[in-house]
Amino acid sequence: MTVPVIAIDGPSASGKGTVAARVASELGFHLLDSGALYRLTAVAAMQAGIALDDEAALEVIAVSLNVRFADSMTWLSGAEVSEQMRGEAASVGASKVAVFAGVRQALLARQQSFRRLPGLVADGRDMGSVVFPDATLKVFLTASVEVRAQRRYKQLIEKGLSANLESLSQDLRERDERDRNRVCAPLVQLPDAILLDTSSMPVNAAVQHVLDAWEKVKAG
Ligand code: CDP
Repeated sequence: MTVPVIAIDGPSASGKGTVAARVASELGFHLLDSGALYRLTAVAAMQAGIALDDEAALEVIAVSLNVRFADSMTWLSGAEVSEQMRGEAASVGASKVAVFAGVRQALLARQQSFRRLPGLVADGRDMGSVVFPDATLKVFLTASVEVRAQRRYKQLIEKGLSANLESLSQDLRERDERDRNRVCAPLVQLPDAILLDTSSMPVNAAVQHVLDAWEKVKAG
C-alpha cells in the first residue's frame, strides 16, 4: 500500500511549518520538517569547524548526522540543540549548505524514511519536486515578503530578542533568491501544486484549506 504524503513547499517564514504541524496533528499523520535536517547539518559542521562551502566534508557530516527528535526537542550526537538549531546562525548556515547536490543527496533517504503509515505531512522546498514527487497532495504555501518579515519580527520580539524589520525583509529577499536560483532542487511552484497565499489569511484558515483539499483528493 502506498503511504499518502501531503507535500507543503514554500519560501522562508511563509508559515508552512506551523500549517504542516497542525495538519499532521489533525490527521494523525507523521511530520517531516525537512529544513531541520539542513539546519542540523549546518550546526554539526560549525561544531566540527568545517567551512560551510566545503562540499565534500559537508556531505560526510550530512550522511553521518546522529539525530534524535522527541517531545519537540532535538539532540545531535547526544547533546540537546533545540534552541541552537532555531537560531540565526543555523538558519543562514542551512541555506548555504542546502545548495550542494552532495548534501541534498545525503539527506534524501533519511527524509524518505519518514514516510510511514498512516501518512506523512512533509514541509520544505523540494518535497513535491524531489523527495516525494508522487505525493498525494502538493501545496505551495506562500505570503508576500512584507507579511513574512512582519511575522518573523513579531516572533523575535515575543521571544524578547531585538529585531529590525528592514533587515529582516532584506534577509528574506536574499534567502528567497538563494532558494529559487540554486541549480539543485530550487524552490518552484509546481504545476500540480495548489497555491495557498496566506498573506491575509490566519493560520486556522490555511490549515482548513489544506484539510479541505485533502478531503477532495481522497474523494478522487
Ligand atoms: O523556512 P525557514 O527558512 O525559516 O527555515 P527552514 O524551513 O528550517 O529551512 C532552512 C533552510 O534550509 C532554507 O533556507 C532552505 O535553504 C533549506 N531547505 C532546503 O533547501 N530544502 C528543504 N527541503 C528545506 C529547507
